Amino acid sequence: MTMQTLTAQISGVGKALPERRLTNADLEKMVDTSDEWITKRVGIKERRIAAEGEYTSHLGARAAADALAMAGVPASEVDLILVATSTPDTVYPSAACLIQKALGATRAGVLDISAACTGFIYGASLATGMIRSGLMRQVLVVAAEVNTSVVNWKDRDTCILFGDGAGAALFSAHDASDGRGVLALRLGGDGEYAPLLNLPNSGCRPFPDAPGRYIVMQGNEVFKQAVRNMAECGADVLAQAGLTAADVSLLIPHQANIRIIDAVATRLGVPPERVFVNIEKYGNTSAATIPIALCEAVEQGRLKPGDVLVIDAFGAGLTWGALALRWG
Ligand code: COA
Repeated sequence: MTMQTLTAQISGVGKALPERRLTNADLEKMVDTSDEWITKRVGIKERRIAAEGEYTSHLGARAAADALAMAGVPASEVDLILVATSTPDTVYPSAACLIQKALGATRAGVLDISAACTGFIYGASLATGMIRSGLMRQVLVVAAEVNTSVVNWKDRDTCILFGDGAGAALFSAHDASDGRGVLALRLGGDGEYAPLLNLPNSGCRPFPDAPGRYIVMQGNEVFKQAVRNMAECGADVLAQAGLTAADVSLLIPHQANIRIIDAVATRLGVPPERVFVNIEKYGNTSAATIPIALCEAVEQGRLKPGDVLVIDAFGAGLTWGALALRWG
C-alpha cells in the first residue's frame, strides 16, 4: 500500500440514544405549540432526553464502543479520537479525553471539535486527512450532544427542535485502488452569519441581556442559509468525485427540519427514496444526527458495497460541509 493510494473507509458505526422520550404532546403542555404545527413545519414527532447523570461523554462512549465492535478493532489500536460536540461535559477535560478513558483507548490522541451541527463532517474530514497522509490508520469520529442542557423550555421557537444522542464511526486506512472509501469532501463556514445562531454565556464573553445559557436562533434566516449552503456543497462533492445525483445511493442530510431536507434533496436532484430521514424520532441532535442516521441506515441494510453515500450538514457559525464516500 503506497501513500498515494490510501484513503479512509468507514469500518464501523454505532449510536446511543437516551431512553426518555419527549413527544409533541408533552411539549403542548409546556409551550404554546401543537403536534400539528411541529409535524408540518419541522417533521419531528418526538425527541430523546438524557437521564439525570447521563452526559455527552457517556452517550459518546456507548456509540464509539459499538463502532469499534462492528469494525472488530480493539480500542488499543485507535490512533485518534475526535469528538464533535457543542455540549461537552466540560470544556476541559475534553469529551474526547473522557471517551478515551471509557474505551481504554490508551494510545489515542484526543480532541474535541467545535463546528456545531457540521461537527461530524469536520471530524470525518480531519480523519480522512490523517489517514490519507499516512500518519494514522484508525481514527474514531464521535458526535455526541446533550442539547437539552442548553434548551430554553420557555422558548417555543427553539425548544421543540432539539434532542440528545450520539453517533460514531471508525475511519480506517483503506487501499483506494478499488475506488471505495472517501471520494471527496468540502468544508465551509462564514462568520458573517454568526448572529443567526448563538449559545450565549457559553464562553468568556458575558451576555447580560440573555436569559441564560440557552440556544438563541433566527430560524427563518438559518433555514435559507442551510438550504443554499447544503445544496451547494453537496453538489460540489459530487462534481469533485466525477459523479451526478443519479449515482447517489443514499443521501444523509443533517436532520434539522424536514423542509430543509426536502429542499436540499430537490436542489441536488436526489429522489426521496434515496434520502435518509429519521428526524421524526430524534429531532435535531446537532452534530450527532448524521452518524445516528448512518448507523440506522446500516442496520436497515440501506448501504451495500459499492453504494455512493453523501453526507451533508450545516450548523451554527455558520458552518457547513459535505463528504462523498463509496461504501464497502
Ligand atoms: N409552535 C407553534 N407556532 C409556532 C412555533 C411553535 N413551536 N414557532 C413559531 N410559531 C409560529 C410563529 O410565531 C409564526 O406565527 P405568525 O405567523 O402568527 O407570526 C409562525 O409560526 C411561522 O413562524 P416562522 O418562524 O416563520 O416559522 P418557520 O416556518 O420558519 O419555522 C423553524 C420555524 C424554526 C422551524 C424554521 O425556521 C427552521 O427550522 N429553521 C432552521 C432552524 C435550524 O435548523 N436550526 C438548527 C441549525 S443546526
